[in-house]
Amino acid sequence: MDWEPLIAAAAAARAHAYAPYSRFAVGAAVLMEDGSIHAAANVENCLPALGICAERNAIAAAASTGLRRPQAVAVIADMSPPATPCGLCRQTLAEFAGDLPILMVNLQGERVESTLAELLPQPFSLRG
Ligand code: THU
Repeated sequence: MDWEPLIAAAAAARAHAYAPYSRFAVGAAVLMEDGSIHAAANVENCLPALGICAERNAIAAAASTGLRRPQAVAVIADMSPPATPCGLCRQTLAEFAGDLPILMVNLQGERVESTLAELLPQPFSLRG
């Protein structure tokens, strides 16, 4: 797995984070089944519940082009150890993938690799 293009895309997207409330900028990038990479940042709102994480914005952007099978996700934030996707984002990724590698990185270059199955062992599913 070559993580560099995903990390670069996530870092570029992070620069566009809209996070005036938390001041915590996050970028995420998802590699899809056709090899394309879709990246996004977190977008907050004055109504906190309406804020959307970078990971969900990234998978939504990919799914909105018709793609349905994420292969890998990279997340970048300025935190040590690297930030992990929140529960909502884990469940959202589980909508499209039984499992996939997730790399969490920070600005210092620390890397933590995990998997969706490890981060969310028992996702809710209507598939039984
Ligand atoms: N956030 C993300 O975008 N992804 C994560 O993995 C962790 C948290 C955002 C949500 C909110 O805009 C800000 O970071 C602080 O929680």
